[in-house]
Order: sequence, then structure tokens, then C-alpha cells
Amino acid sequence: MVRINENYTKLQGAYLFSEIAKRRTQFALDNPGAQIISLGIGDVTQPLSQPVIEAMQEAVIEMGDAKSFKGYGPEQGYDFLREMIAKNDYHARGVRIDTDEIFISDGSKCDTGNFQEILHIDNVVAITDPVYPVYVDTNVMAGRTDEFDSSIGRYKGIQYLDCTEQSGFKPNLPQERVDVIYLCSPNNPTGIAFSHEELKTWVDYAKENKSLILFDAAYEAFIKESEIPHSIYEIEGAKEVAVEFRSFSKTAGFTGTRCAFVVVPKQLNAFDSKGNPYSLNAFWNRRHTTKFNGVSYVIQRAAAAVYTEEGRTQVNKTINYYMENAALIRTSLELLGFKVFGGVNAPYIWLKCPGNMGSWEFFNKLLNEAHLVTTPGVGFGNNGEGYVRLTAFGSRENTEKAMERLRKVGL
Ligand code: MLT
Repeated sequence: MVRINENYTKLQGAYLFSEIAKRRTQFALDNPGAQIISLGIGDVTQPLSQPVIEAMQEAVIEMGDAKSFKGYGPEQGYDFLREMIAKNDYHARGVRIDTDEIFISDGSKCDTGNFQEILHIDNVVAITDPVYPVYVDTNVMAGRTDEFDSSIGRYKGIQYLDCTEQSGFKPNLPQERVDVIYLCSPNNPTGIAFSHEELKTWVDYAKENKSLILFDAAYEAFIKESEIPHSIYEIEGAKEVAVEFRSFSKTAGFTGTRCAFVVVPKQLNAFDSKGNPYSLNAFWNRRHTTKFNGVSYVIQRAAAAVYTEEGRTQVNKTINYYMENAALIRTSLELLGFKVFGGVNAPYIWLKCPGNMGSWEFFNKLLNEAHLVTTPGVGFGNNGEGYVRLTAFGSRENTEKAMERLRKVGL
């Protein structure tokens, strides 16, 4: 008799964004004339830049020529891309990262979900609340938690780090010692970013406790305030305690194209039961080469074009476009008397629901009355109840229309 992985039975409902897509589809079927605007999933809408397209086209031509055709590439990624990343994302900020510390992949969702696989099942994991649901669900799937406790709306076995309006949506250090800490800055979903000082307290904690920080920096390109760190490695000593996840998805419009990377420094260790150190870089390399055959050559060439002079100019233009949407959303909502957070260093706006409404209640109201799709905050955890998340990734036209419709909703 084949046995199932019973950890999956502990999962709550469907994956958040699948559930939202299902409700949107149903609404569209029931209301065929409705012009739905999505401010829900953080999916980009602006096309790939010209340098990226040209690089992709050239790579396709190379693939059609026997002299330049490529079969399997290195699983960790081509050096031409890894070198560009090391130079532009790290050396340019005074951070020394070697190319063999960079692993190219097809997305940060997979990377942040997969990384826990090389860590012991008994590690105590700390996760902020609210949080990107992938960190929680993948630890549940792996068996690192007990059942979901519906009386508190949380999994037993995870240490939740509260992020509330009172704490500026930033977590305090854990009350009890933890082994693994997931941090995301600029944050999905709240749009808040850590300062250098705040990040340093986490690095110091991890050093003192021999903990590991899994740092999701997928939204670093949206940072506008100069004092906010773009990489955790800008903090002294972070290379001994942190893995960093980055993505071309939101930075350069690759959500449908797929390219991302993980940085696993060589001095980063985890320990066996006797306290012997093991290189996480070597372990991740072993996992990556065994389970992944690399991102396609064409896509890696496209990603490398993001770092050319013209590539950068174009990408920055698109990022500014989205951040202008974010400013538009923030100002419009503030004028309407809403309480809003984020949207300054991140493409997400965290909106407090009016009149003590719950997240799903407000989601339904906006869908029914304004034909707007949002993301209910409670889908990111208990502390998200009473909030919805809006994304700035729409077109300008749709963002303006959405704000116009919000003005007309009876609130
Ligand atoms: C989000 O909306 O939070 C993201 O688009 C989800 C993702 O990147 O996987």
C-alpha cells in the first residue's frame, strides 16, 4: 500500500494565490460584463526591455547554429551571468561575493521553498507573521511542524514573530532560541524595509546563536531610500550566517520568463549532531546539481542583458513606473482617509480595512462593488487579518481606474 506524505494533510486550504485566482474566475463567470482589475498577485505587466529581447533573440539564433548550439549547461548557471551578478549586485556595493557562491535558478519561490530541504528536520524555524506563505507551507510539507491549531490560527512547532502596526510591521528578536529565521526585506506583504541597524541586530543574533538567516531580497530593486540596505551582506559578518535570495522576476519583468539566484557564501556552515561544521555551499551545490538541470541558455543570456548600460536604464525606467503607481495608490488612499503602509521601498501597499472589516470581507466588497482583486492580508498570517495588500505592478491606466473606482465604493 502506497503511503502518502501526511504532512500535506496539515496544510490549510489552497495556496493563497490559487484561491484568489479561483474566486476571480468565478466572479468573472457570474458577472460576464465586469471589467476586473487585479491589484492582487504581484505579477508584472510591463513588457521585457529591448536589450533583454535582443539578447534572447541572439541566443535563439546561436541555438539554431551547430557551431554555437548548447545542450546541458552548468547546473549552477553560466559564468557570464554569475560574473555579472557578482560584479553589479555585490562588488558595486562593496560586498565580495565569488561566482561559485551564486546559484542561478528558475525562481525565488522554488529557492526559498527548497532551501529548507538541506537542513535538519528538528531545526526550530522562526517565521514572521504576516509572511509570504511559501516559507510556512514548505516547512509544513517537510514535517517540521505539528498540526495546524485552529484556535490560534497557527502551526504548532513554528516560532511566529509578530509584525503589527505597533511594531511598525517589524519583528522583534525571538523569545526562545531558534535555528532558522526567514526574513524578507523589502517585505512581502507589508512593503516595509529593514534599516542597516535593524538588520544588524538579526545578524548579531544569528552569530550568537549559530542560527541561519534565509534572507529574501526579491524586491531589493524597488528600494528608493538610500539608507536601506539592498543585501544582507552589507552587514558585517552576514556571510557567516545568511543565505540571500534574489530574482529577476519583479526586477526585470521575468515572472513568465523565469530566472533568479541564491547566494550561499562559502564560510557559511551548518552543524551535525556532534557539532561538526558542514559547508552549506557544498550541500546546496549537491542538491542543486542533483535535482536541477539549470536555467536555459537563452534565458540566462536575457538576464545578463539586464546588466548592460542600456539594460539598466530600461529596467530602472520600468521600476520607476511601478513605484509611481505605488505613490499614486498611497496618496489616493490616504486622501480617502485610509491607513496605508509600505509602497515607498516596495511595490506593495498594505492597507488597513475600514470599519474593522475582516480581510476577506473587504476583499469581497472590493470585488463585488468595484471589480477590484486584492490580496486578503489574513492569507499571509493571523496578523494580516484586517488588512489587504495591493500591488503596484498594474498598468498606469488600470491603477488610475482602480483608484477612481475605490473613490466610488461606499465605505
Ligand atoms: C506575490 O504576489 O506575493 C508574489 O507574486 C508571489 C510570488 O512571487 O510567488
